Amino acid sequence: MARSRRRLTTCTHHAKLKAQTVPTGRSELSEKLLFLRSFVAHPRRMGAVLPTSRRAVKCMLGMADLDRADLVVELGAGTGSHTRAILSRLGPQARLVAFEIDPVLAANVRDRLPDRRLEVVAASAEDLEQHLDGGRPEVVVSALPFTSLPADVGSAILDRAARVLAPDGVLLVLQYSPLITPRLSRRFRWLRRKVCLRNVPPAFLYACREPRAPGTGTAEPDSANGPA
Ligand SMILES: C[S@@+](CC[C@H](N)C(=O)[O-])C[C@H]1O[C@@H](n2cnc3c(N)ncnc32)[C@H](O)[C@@H]1O
Repeated sequence: MARSRRRLTTCTHHAKLKAQTVPTGRSELSEKLLFLRSFVAHPRRMGAVLPTSRRAVKCMLGMADLDRADLVVELGAGTGSHTRAILSRLGPQARLVAFEIDPVLAANVRDRLPDRRLEVVAASAEDLEQHLDGGRPEVVVSALPFTSLPADVGSAILDRAARVLAPDGVLLVLQYSPLITPRLSRRFRWLRRKVCLRNVPPAFLYACREPRAPGTGTAEPDSANGPA
């Protein structure tokens, strides 16, 4: 199927998540407080003050066929905004491997979302390949703050995500600015971008397909591309 190389749309459609995926008001508040506490301790690693909104999560996950995936990887689970929504879309035999570098947040997601399909790995997403046993995920979902992470860490994660993807797979990326676009174009031949205004701050959502062979991207190295 022919796909346009780049597209930009605004996410405006209305829909509700399944009831069982929505946290109660009380647990939602405690998730926000936990998130905020982690942000105060590690602002650059967290990259955001609040968890991603349900609308932005829905809009982002809508760019992939999660219900048909056997293996999904999440990078930067935080308090589980994406994790919960991914699980609600996965089939009964599918697997979700979620990376979260903060051990407190990782343990919290493990406790709050007991599900035999979910494995929470309390490690850096740089270790991605070591935890997949050769598995090739059809979908990789990232809300990592590439803008504020050290450039070499972000680049290593993007390279590894592109390398492990299944041949027809998709990498979904959430950012708070479009600065990452050249870094993604350097690694993927096909990009689609949406903007979700119903998130604090507004979220730039990318779907990236068709990884380039390493070293074939045309632009300068990541370090020459500012902080993104
Ligand atoms: C912006 S938060 C996103 C959290 C959640 N997915 C959401 O959307 O609300 C980024 C998360 O990535 C985690 N993180 C940062 N660097 C990481 C790394 N190298 N490996 C794994 N997780 C990382 C942070 O601890 C934080 O929980």
